[in-house]
Amino acid sequence: MSRFLFALVALSTPAIASAAASGAAQYSTSCASCHGADGKKGNIVIAGESAAKVTKALDGHTPPMTNLKLTAEQISAVANYVAGMK
Ligand code: HEC
Repeated sequence: MSRFLFALVALSTPAIASAAASGAAQYSTSCASCHGADGKKGNIVIAGESAAKVTKALDGHTPPMTNLKLTAEQISAVANYVAGMK
């Protein structure tokens, strides 16, 4: 049993780290031009917004972000990244 748990931890930790890294990469590709590297450009502060709110903003119905063509996986990664920004 403990061996099984160890394997689970060993497998899942890098997966979490890589989701965070791809969220950051996705952010700089798709969002930073308008929202700034820190998510605080202009009057809109998105840094620290809940992942649920970011996901909603990226569902394809909020101009001007209707045309970003992100997959559900990319949205989830970037939403978690934005929620963790300070
Ligand atoms: C073309 C410029 C542009 C790009 C690219 C863009 N945004 Fe936006 N975003 C805006 C503008 C402008 C608003 C404000 C819209 C409004 O208030 O009606 C906004 C609003 C938001 C909001 C809602 C903020 C609030 O308080 O209601 C979130 C969350 C958000 N953007 C996240 C993102 C994320 C994450 C990305 C990248 C995947 C992204 N945006 C890409 C311009 C952009």
